[in-house]
Amino acid sequence: MERVVSPAEARQAIAEARREAKTIGLVPTMGALHEGHLALVRASCRRAGYTAVSIFVNPTQFGEGEDFDAYPRDMARDLELLAAEGVDLVFTPGVEHMYPAGSSIAVDPGDLAERWEGAIRPAHFRGVATVVAKLFNITTPDLAFFGEKDYQQLKIVQRMAADLDMAVTVVGCPIVRDQDGVALSSRNAYLTGEEAAQAIALCEALEAAAEAVAWGERDAAAVEQTMAEEVSAFRLVELDYAVVVDPRTLEQVTRIEGPTRALIAVTLGDTRLIDNAALEPPPVRVEDEKDAQEE
Ligand code: PAJ
Repeated sequence: MERVVSPAEARQAIAEARREAKTIGLVPTMGALHEGHLALVRASCRRAGYTAVSIFVNPTQFGEGEDFDAYPRDMARDLELLAAEGVDLVFTPGVEHMYPAGSSIAVDPGDLAERWEGAIRPAHFRGVATVVAKLFNITTPDLAFFGEKDYQQLKIVQRMAADLDMAVTVVGCPIVRDQDGVALSSRNAYLTGEEAAQAIALCEALEAAAEAVAWGERDAAAVEQTMAEEVSAFRLVELDYAVVVDPRTLEQVTRIEGPTRALIAVTLGDTRLIDNAALEPPPVRVEDEKDAQEE
């Protein structure tokens, strides 16, 4: 496994892989790697002949007063984990490489960035879209792997690649959870013991939503209410939003007829946590239809 820190070195390493006609896969991360990140790495290693992983805690996506300085960093451990997965290239630029003095152009993340996380964290998605565009330009991937864990981010990156004619396929990968159902996140490291025990609030709310839909609930507001009630049972958890949205536009829906997505965000102590799940009514069985007609 090769490690490079400058964009020029990354370009050179990837040019060699290109000469060998290898498919290039990219997994962008901010480090403090866990099984969620490693699932993306494994997906890339399966589908691409050459896998590059970037580790860069991107300052432009953190707002004022957010956790940029406190964000967990453990480069030695991350490198060990990536070497064990058979990664070809690790790109670990410094802020001076990604944002040299005088750089001023950024990517406007568009409509999808206006609500949910974007409303609570202004400028967050502008920072994400900009750094991801830069990483795409530096590494020229054929495939780039993102987690559904950050569902709005995934949708914005897919939209960016389409709208800006980027020659990359952005692949979404399922959320990896611990045995209690809590979505893995680098930020879980901030939680105290008591807070960590309450982090199940998010996945329990999502499960309650899925159950309501499985039992026939089609009214999105009722499902949102179910999620809010589930969360209210957790003393330390404050709900930021729990909504049912159209997976393409991320706009709230009123009825759950086809595929929708439940998005949830909470504050637990000083830590913000997000999670989401697909919500879809079960397919109508032909026999049920017949029964209904005969009644
Ligand atoms: P980071 O939070 O390090 O996440 C890197 C990638 O791992 C993202 O695509 C994220 O969705 C995915 N991921 C995190 N937890 C996951 C889980 N439990 N299951 C599946 N995938 C998971 O997201 C970022 O970094 C940054 O915004 C970045 C895209 C690197 C731009 O700076």
